[in-house]
Amino acid sequence: MSGTAGGLLAALENSAVAAAIRESSWLYPALEIAHILGIVWLVGGAFLFDLRLLGLSRAIPAPALAQHLLPWSRRGLYLLVPSGLLLFSTNAVTLAADTVFHLKMLLLLVGGLNAGLFHRFLSPSSEAWQHTGIPVAAKAVAICSMLVWLLVIACGRLLAY
Ligand code: HEM
Repeated sequence: MSGTAGGLLAALENSAVAAAIRESSWLYPALEIAHILGIVWLVGGAFLFDLRLLGLSRAIPAPALAQHLLPWSRRGLYLLVPSGLLLFSTNAVTLAADTVFHLKMLLLLVGGLNAGLFHRFLSPSSEAWQHTGIPVAAKAVAICSMLVWLLVIACGRLLAY
């Protein structure tokens, strides 16, 4: 990486915050734990809701389950993004050139877009699903969601080596 972007990445990596995380014996693992707790909330909530869309736990109406689970997914993001950015800062130059990191960010975008499309176009009619059944488009969103979050986790694990 060269030019302004390369300079910014180097500045981030050499910042006092990044240096403090690298030098501390507990900050880095603490951030990894926060990152994993974020994954549990985000992916746990998303998977359980996706499984409902695919036909499991039919006793609970989809809108009620969404109301219960999806705030936890949002809270997961509040943990994941800051902890991820801090982890990134410690090794910014190398990670920014890593194909696995690029793939992870792209997949994050796809996961966000998938969830956004669901909330914009499908969930407004979800009150009716208890009678009509879950539409095929919502099942497709659920499969996409499960696949994307699994791949994001796989990319994250590969980055940690
Ligand atoms: C802005 C968002 C994110 C950024 C910048 C980010 C960045 C990172 C970085 C730099 C690492 C490497 C840590 C290490 O070397 O131990 C990492 C690890 C990881 N990330 Fe993320 N991440 C983000 C979001 C996510 C999301 C949404 C997921 C999953 C749904 C995820 C899953 C993982 C996993 C599984 C690991 C491996 C943790 C470990 O094994 O210790 N990340 N992330």
